[in-house]
Amino acid sequence: MIKVAPSILGADFSKLAAEVETVKEAGYLHIDVMDGHFVPNITLGPGVLADVAKRTEQILDVHLMIENPDNYIAQFAEAGADIISVHVEACPHLHRTIQNIQEQSVGAAVALNPATPLETIKHVLPELEMVLIMTVNPGFGGQSFIPEMVDKIKELNQMIEEQNLDVDIQVDGGIKPTTTAVEAVEAGADILVAGSAIFGAEDREKVIKEFQNVKS
Ligand code: DX5
Ligand code: ZN
Repeated sequence: MIKVAPSILGADFSKLAAEVETVKEAGYLHIDVMDGHFVPNITLGPGVLADVAKRTEQILDVHLMIENPDNYIAQFAEAGADIISVHVEACPHLHRTIQNIQEQSVGAAVALNPATPLETIKHVLPELEMVLIMTVNPGFGGQSFIPEMVDKIKELNQMIEEQNLDVDIQVDGGIKPTTTAVEAVEAGADILVAGSAIFGAEDREKVIKEFQNVKS
């Protein structure tokens, strides 16, 4: 079964606990943290994550779209993060940042913007639990999937297989059940992040099931 991580960026923040409850079948919850510097949008911080963590058993997958993520890793870990993704573009000492995440007993993941080549993570790949391939430019929900990212997912899948590693491929941005999700899974994606496709639907459980049943 394909793993699905509903992105709370698509939720109504004025009733966050109730919104999170509606997507609990997914097992994962994707938390988009934006600082207004690394990306042109601002969302939430560790305080909100800590409150969400008290209300749910879901695996909290925290996507840090922030500059200087090292300054905040401990706070997000304490707030309840199970996986933390940092952007390679924001980490001049990526290996050290990955170590910082692991020292907090949190799964370490690295995210890549669409224009960032896979070469940038080649030498840290064995350290990672997950790689997040951005399939849109980060910052906003509801954007269109960038088709060139299909080949990038395929290439990453090949890199992982060649090195015989156990690293999940997560895709994020413009993921829809019958179209881009299928393309991404066929290319090798293991975890689908979806904001508008899930939170924009009336029957969210149905959409989550559709994602989980995407076949490669
Ligand atoms: C974008 C975020 C995504 C966003 C995806 O920067 O990282 O997680 O919520 O939203 P959709 O699924 O609507 O493209
Ligand atoms: Zn995200």
